[in-house]
Amino acid sequence: MLSIQFERFGEPTEVLQVVDVPVPEPKTNQVLIRMRVRPVHSSDLHIMRGRYGILPPLPISPGIEGMGVIESLGEGVQGFHVGQRVIPFNSWGCWQEYLVADASRLLLVPDTVSDEMAAQLIINPMTAWVMLTQELQVERGEWLVQTAANSAVGRLVIQLSQILGLKTINIVRSREQVQGLLDMGADEVICSADENVVERIAQITGSTGVGKAMDSVAGQVGADVLQSLRFGGVMLQYGALSTHGQTDPGKMILPVFAPKMIYGVTSVRGWWIYPWLSSVSLEEARGIANQLLSLMAQGRIVLGSGQAFALADAKQAVRYAQQAQRQGGKALLVG
Ligand SMILES: NC(=O)c1ccc[n+]([C@@H]2O[C@H](COP(=O)([O-])OP(=O)(O)OC[C@H]3O[C@@H](n4cnc5c(N)ncnc54)[C@H](OP(=O)(O)O)[C@@H]3O)[C@@H](O)[C@H]2O)c1
Repeated sequence: MLSIQFERFGEPTEVLQVVDVPVPEPKTNQVLIRMRVRPVHSSDLHIMRGRYGILPPLPISPGIEGMGVIESLGEGVQGFHVGQRVIPFNSWGCWQEYLVADASRLLLVPDTVSDEMAAQLIINPMTAWVMLTQELQVERGEWLVQTAANSAVGRLVIQLSQILGLKTINIVRSREQVQGLLDMGADEVICSADENVVERIAQITGSTGVGKAMDSVAGQVGADVLQSLRFGGVMLQYGALSTHGQTDPGKMILPVFAPKMIYGVTSVRGWWIYPWLSSVSLEEARGIANQLLSLMAQGRIVLGSGQAFALADAKQAVRYAQQAQRQGGKALLVG
């Protein structure tokens, strides 16, 4: 079968290889999945570059999520049959034609959810949901500020906030993105290219101010959001997009205005899905994933249909994934 692999860390377009390996055999309580769709995430690229919080032993096939169809069952598997569409929960190695997964870690895809949406269920929707409802516990009617609002996570935060009754202030870096987010249900959109972020947040939130924020950009925009928090406010740092491509650690920063933090008693806290996944039971994580699948099935959360690339064209997909102002959503490896 076709398998995308890398045997050393480095630039994805340099280290990725297309190799031919035997189709794996499912063992007891495992299933063999014929993979159909896998997104290319920033974290996939960080892993290939050796710059992620956890790194796999090499050589390995990348791909932290995807979906496929059950091809065969190992001994003892109950409750599943060949041909069902499934998502292997929390797996590595999705950038291959076939993947073996434990039956206990499979999620069934409802008929009304497309392959493309199902393939993107875990990393971004769960991140948006857990940050909103567990980490920040944003309350009905409360303001939330977020950066990179046009990202997949950002768009999910807008949609979930509507469902939960939260009010969002969304920061984007280009004016062309503003109307699309307002149409999607964003309450306010600020364009950091031509507006003063701190002043606009203050204008919008008035005397209430904003107590909750999430940032995936860092740099000046992240600092502006932190600066805008009201007394006791909290910002979750879950990405650092402005530092991508930097190799100098001195430039991978979130500049903090210290007096505001001290006298405003504000805080910034990191958030990362992996420790969260290990801190909860499989049952709890599956419960949230199934709830999100059900929102997808009802059409209440929608993800971009993405730009399809053949699995063998993984390098091309990686190049697309790194482009600014992508209009078509995520790069998706299909087939
Ligand atoms: N901590 C976690 O567990 C966790 C989980 C999921 C995601 N994340 C992180 O969340 C972030 C978003 O992921 P995603 O998959 O939703 O992204 P995505 O859909 O690939 O979109 C990336 C977005 O980032 C924007 N962007 C890129 N560089 C930027 C910069 N320098 N300044 C401002 N905006 C910038 C892009 O804006 P344009 O449209 O203008 O190009 C685009 O909207 C990534 O950093 C990812 O690693 C973290």
